[in-house]
Amino acid sequence: MKVDQQLLKNEVNQRRTFAIISHPDAGKTTITEQMLKLGGAIRQAGTVKGRKTGKFATSDWMEVEKQRGISVTSSVMHFNYEDKHVNILDTPGHEDFSEDTYRTLMAVDSGVMVVDTANGIEAQTEKLFKVCRMRGIPIFTFMNKLDRDGREPIDLVEELEEVLEIDAYPMNWPIGTGRSLIGVYDIYHNRIEFNDPDEWNNGETYLPLNEQGEIEGEHRLKEDRLYEQVLEEVELLKIAGNEFSKEAIAAGELTPVFFGSALTGFGVESFLKTFLGFAPEPSTTIDQEELAVEPTDENFSGFIFKIQANMDPKHRDRIAFVRICSGQFEPGMSVTLSRTDRDFRLNNSTQFMAEDREIVKHAVAGDIIGLYDTGNFQIGDTIYEGKDQVTFKELPQFTPEIFMKVEPKNVMKQKSYHKGIQQLVQEGAIQLYKTYHTEEYILGAVGQLQFEVFEHRMNKEYNSEVVMKPLGNKIARWINPDQLDENMSSNRSLLAKDRYDQPVILFESDFALRWFSDKYPEVELYSLL
Ligand code: G4P
Repeated sequence: MKVDQQLLKNEVNQRRTFAIISHPDAGKTTITEQMLKLGGAIRQAGTVKGRKTGKFATSDWMEVEKQRGISVTSSVMHFNYEDKHVNILDTPGHEDFSEDTYRTLMAVDSGVMVVDTANGIEAQTEKLFKVCRMRGIPIFTFMNKLDRDGREPIDLVEELEEVLEIDAYPMNWPIGTGRSLIGVYDIYHNRIEFNDPDEWNNGETYLPLNEQGEIEGEHRLKEDRLYEQVLEEVELLKIAGNEFSKEAIAAGELTPVFFGSALTGFGVESFLKTFLGFAPEPSTTIDQEELAVEPTDENFSGFIFKIQANMDPKHRDRIAFVRICSGQFEPGMSVTLSRTDRDFRLNNSTQFMAEDREIVKHAVAGDIIGLYDTGNFQIGDTIYEGKDQVTFKELPQFTPEIFMKVEPKNVMKQKSYHKGIQQLVQEGAIQLYKTYHTEEYILGAVGQLQFEVFEHRMNKEYNSEVVMKPLGNKIARWINPDQLDENMSSNRSLLAKDRYDQPVILFESDFALRWFSDKYPEVELYSLL
């Protein structure tokens, strides 16, 4: 395809593609809505998703399924802000948490971590953070719910650094919280941002500070004890805190921390502006041959990081989500699927928006498009344009945490049962393990939803009813086959093998894992991500 190189470059440089990571209820939806509002993509809050799919009980899966049409449209949201084209990828939590949530993080260039100031760093944030860390992408922190009394800011920053093992740089510092919230001292811009500008600053949101970082001349705030306090705290941060470093942010070693309130919108705009200033544009992707694929390369390439099935039960359609790594997409273009070497045309593609799906006419590196799929794609597949084959590296596998034994309900229907399992495993919907000797099937997942999707799809797409027996939470550790002794298996540690026949031990608890390591100190155990 003929590509205007300069135009492509300009467009790619405008792209900012990121995910918001957080623990459920920290405020991800609320801040997403505020950003969409600032970008003019929605008019009012409350439109992002059939809110809180997570509130459905697991048995309401069919209800959730019905909602899919809504929630899937929020899988990727885009809007323009100033000169940037912003793509936000949703990372489902609650019962929607699955390996897809992790894999989505493979398709972004940066992450925004939303933390509830009342709760600090929570379990799911930590898990998602680790994946971002492994990728070395920049992470920006939004300490949310400043309109409520939360924990001490310094505690929160210290906890963040300690638990996540990352340096933090407070970009601003709260002046009061909850009812007494006056605003923030914006360290980075050397100004004060008021929560209620009418009350405090003649309607002006920002008050610039002098070179010493203090208010010049007379101001009501100077008489407030919180002002003295914040000056002292900021002074301390400047002396004892980390240095600001653009390079450390870019390398994912330093997270800039912003305090604000997604609900009231306080601090969200200055966060978005500053964040977009630092957030990276689409970066180079390294392929399997260790060759660099540049976003501005003329030829299109991309990889599939998520497949959403059964969005419309009448059509059994699936949508493969593609992160474009280079070049540009135009409807009808010809591409090759690297795994099968098959050529085909990209006709039916779609982009997503909060309120509806739209047909994409044009997209460039950094963007996400959805391709209607009739079963051709697998997660991790590369598609590319041109003669030179491109195959991106495999997406990482994630250590499952929940396990189920599975059997066909009707033993006469083994064929469809095996076919279904094989395909769903290949597609990345679920992980397959077998007990070491008896080869009974065990399914592994990171979220309960994966089992429900599995059961539902086996039934609907492969006409195979399954019986699932929960094994509960397990800690899976891989073991070097040379060190394996089958007597190591006990009622607290089940010996299994993965789908590549590699031995894995499923430990019942942390305690069982420690007991094992004490008993066999020479045995090395590995986990996936
Ligand atoms: P999530 O997507 O991360 O799960 O969180 P979501 O934005 O849905 O927010 C979870 C709850 O926290 C919501 O209240 C929301 O209104 C509230 N919230 C979000 N940001 C702030 C904030 O800055 N300050 C305060 N005080 N609350 C905030 P809810 O009552 O559970 O839901 P809803 O009934 O209001 O939707």
